[in-house]
Amino acid sequence: MRSWLYAVLVILSIILLGASAFRPTVSDSEYSLHPDTPVAEVLERLGDPPLPHKPNFKLRGVSVVRGYDIVHYGTTTGPDGQRTTKQSPHFVCTSCHNMVREDPDLSVADPEARLDYCAAQGIPFLPGTTMYGVVNRTSFYNGDYEKKYGDLVYRARYDLREAIQLCAIACSQGRHLAPWELESVLAYFWTLQLKMGDLQLTPHEWQEVEGALAQGRPSGATIELIKSHYLQASPATFVPPPDDRRQGYAVPPGNPQRGRLIYQQSCLHCHWDKRFSFFALDYDLRTFSFLSKHIARYTRYSIYQVIRWGTEPIPGKRAYMPNFTLEKMSHQQVEDLRAFIETQAHSEQ
Ligand code: HEC
Ligand code: HEC
Repeated sequence: MRSWLYAVLVILSIILLGASAFRPTVSDSEYSLHPDTPVAEVLERLGDPPLPHKPNFKLRGVSVVRGYDIVHYGTTTGPDGQRTTKQSPHFVCTSCHNMVREDPDLSVADPEARLDYCAAQGIPFLPGTTMYGVVNRTSFYNGDYEKKYGDLVYRARYDLREAIQLCAIACSQGRHLAPWELESVLAYFWTLQLKMGDLQLTPHEWQEVEGALAQGRPSGATIELIKSHYLQASPATFVPPPDDRRQGYAVPPGNPQRGRLIYQQSCLHCHWDKRFSFFALDYDLRTFSFLSKHIARYTRYSIYQVIRWGTEPIPGKRAYMPNFTLEKMSHQQVEDLRAFIETQAHSEQ
């Protein structure tokens, strides 16, 4: 019955395969573009200055595996064969940062789209930006992090090494990384660099890049085209809790189903079984009643308070909750979470 369809398909594929076989090669050089070609490599070929934060492998002990260990476990075995002291007693980098892609479209910072993407991938929804593609960024602690912390972030602004050290101390509440540790973390981060296939170029744009590469000349326009497909800096806008905490933010009514995703992918990432904090959250009715009761209050247990302002690092204890910027949680999402907590608190279990 469908044999005509197969015949058409076979003929079509012969035409297509033939066309690609006879198409003139992209350039006389051996270079060709693939979905897993690194973006940074293509940009360099097109004349963009090389990124300044390539790892220094000449330093003794530098390795991708050690970098992986430090980022995921906070410790590794050093070049002397000794286990290093934990980078932080409270956190690991993955408490607050994903190491995989977290946005469907890399050219925008949209927390709604990110939540769906994270839930579908089964990865957490976090206050820090993913380290996937961090080496492709050129400025760090942007927006209000710069405005509010001024001098503190000054050195880290255009320097990924300094940004990592700043986070090791200020975000992670831990110790500085030794030079070989820092270079190892960088080496690991380079394995998370963006690939051309991540950018979702249209077939036409892809051809344009191929064309420019084949010419073998610098092309500012093509560099711009590629860069328009991902953010070179992660934006950050600090926002306060709503003026009236009983009323909440002036957005459409919260959606408890979306709120559940936030609770699951975000809050529980750190609070389940006191994983990265001293405060446990779970699915118990009492937990929801407690959170619900505090929502409208001016206490440290109000979700508005902790989400928008975070908690102060307490000396000696010093695990603290980072605030969520507008790019990490929208007002609507906070209301969705509220709706979920309130629905759970009032449900009979
Ligand atoms: C307690 C949470 C937390 C921990 C732990 C943490 N970070 Fe961060 N980090 C943040 C936040 C919040 C920012 C603010 C900027 C952003 O990521 O959007 C940040 C920023 C950064 C940046 C700059 C990103 C950018 O694009 O501006 C780097 C690099 C970084 N962290 C590396 C690390 C490394 C490496 C570790 C582990 C040693 C670590 N962080 C641990 C919360 C954390
Ligand atoms: C990156 C990890 C992390 C995430 C994500 C996170 N928290 Fe926290 N939270 C902490 C830490 C650390 C503290 C500090 C207090 C402590 O350890 O007892 C804290 C404190 C709190 C407190 C105050 C408790 C106290 O004893 O002062 C509340 C309430 C809270 N978080 C709720 C939430 C909710 C709701 C979410 C989800 C939107 C969330 N947290 C997401 C790490 C996190």
